Amino acid sequence: GLNIGPLLKETGVVTYDPGFMNTANTKSAITYIDGAEGILRYRGYPIEQLAEHSSFLEVAYLLIYGELPTDGQLNDWDQNIRSHTMLHEDLKSFFSGFPRDAHPMPVLSSAVSALSTFYADSLDPFDEEQVHISTIRLMSKLPVIAAYAFKKSLGQPMLYPDNSLNLTENFLRLCFGVPAEAYELDDDVVKALDRLLILHADHEQNCSTSTVRLVGSSHANMFASISAGINALYGPLHGGANEAVLNMLRQIQTEGLEPETFMDKVKNKEDGVKLMGFGHRVYKNYDPRARIAKAAADEILGKVKGGDELLDIAIRLEERALADEYFIERKLYPNVDFYTGLIYKAMGFPEKMFTVLFALGRLPGWIAQWREMIEDKSTKIGRPRQVYTGEVQRDYPGI
Ligand code: ACO
Repeated sequence: GLNIGPLLKETGVVTYDPGFMNTANTKSAITYIDGAEGILRYRGYPIEQLAEHSSFLEVAYLLIYGELPTDGQLNDWDQNIRSHTMLHEDLKSFFSGFPRDAHPMPVLSSAVSALSTFYADSLDPFDEEQVHISTIRLMSKLPVIAAYAFKKSLGQPMLYPDNSLNLTENFLRLCFGVPAEAYELDDDVVKALDRLLILHADHEQNCSTSTVRLVGSSHANMFASISAGINALYGPLHGGANEAVLNMLRQIQTEGLEPETFMDKVKNKEDGVKLMGFGHRVYKNYDPRARIAKAAADEILGKVKGGDELLDIAIRLEERALADEYFIERKLYPNVDFYTGLIYKAMGFPEKMFTVLFALGRLPGWIAQWREMIEDKSTKIGRPRQVYTGEVQRDYPGI
């Protein structure tokens, strides 16, 4: 019943690949993944080394510009980002238009989309200087927008950024600081958050990054393209999974379920229940980011809270899943989201903010991928084909 006639006529060949399981949409020199071996490298550097030794800003520079920065370059990059954190006051008033209990992800994507109206002087994708200033503006302002979306949901006043702080420190202060009180940064929390941002910084052609590229392939500006990527990330099968993991762990806790009972539900596919935070389109082995996040969870939960019952449930679920035929057969391992939500919770973020934190981390990847696409002269507008399955032709019968 598939009508492949027109495609065959045009090209002589038809590729039907729902979900792009086996179709490369682009060439890219940014991120390398070997899903079978559980390997992730940014610009050739293993994620383990970057997470251990570098900072989020350094990794962002690496992804966007292709090489690790020198001391001087890192300092300029940091200073440049610090000096563009202010939001236009009119953009601030934008936040009051949303309902108080608005989810911060659509608030984030709307505000990023609105940057196209506030910075109409830097929208030309082929002007290097404009691309540079849009890069800095996004890197500086996204954490501020994210923190404002958070404050809005709490009904608390928004603080102005403190540019004596770096990106990660500033973001934490804007989220948890209150006016007229000094905010004390906890070095362990800053380090843990910085590391999680590194883990999320790029992941080649995932759903949101492909969205950024597809939208950008029409020569839409960087703000518009990245706003679309944020919306793609919002979905529970992508960035929304970290929130879903915590909801799942809470449900197991409040219903007093044994991990085995929950696993039976998953394996019997009762009501479509999945073990959230497990499985990945590309990793058919342990997600290397999950390993680093698990170690960070042990560390931060130990320090900040002295252990956590939800972490224990997560560890028990993982142990059981890794020994279970259902998961082994399907090569389902923990992905990065399995442990990150627990860390965010320990830092004081509510579930609604988890995907926003993912977006903050993924920003340099989106920027790097958008720029790589624009710089590649062979880029064509993304325009998938289809296999038509409807009526071939009918005569209009009149009502
Ligand atoms: N729990 C239980 N079963 C699962 C899970 C899971 N988490 N993930 C996949 N499966 C099963 C499927 O039901 C399917 O079983 P079947 O062969 O009996 O039909 C088989 O494993 C293959 O799964 P697909 O859904 O076909 O795999 P796909 O590559 O399309 O999906 C995805 C990958 C979306 C990540 C999926 O594993 C999933 O939904 N996981 C839970 C959500 C999640 O954690 N998402 C975060 C992804 S990572 C990220 O975005 C950062």
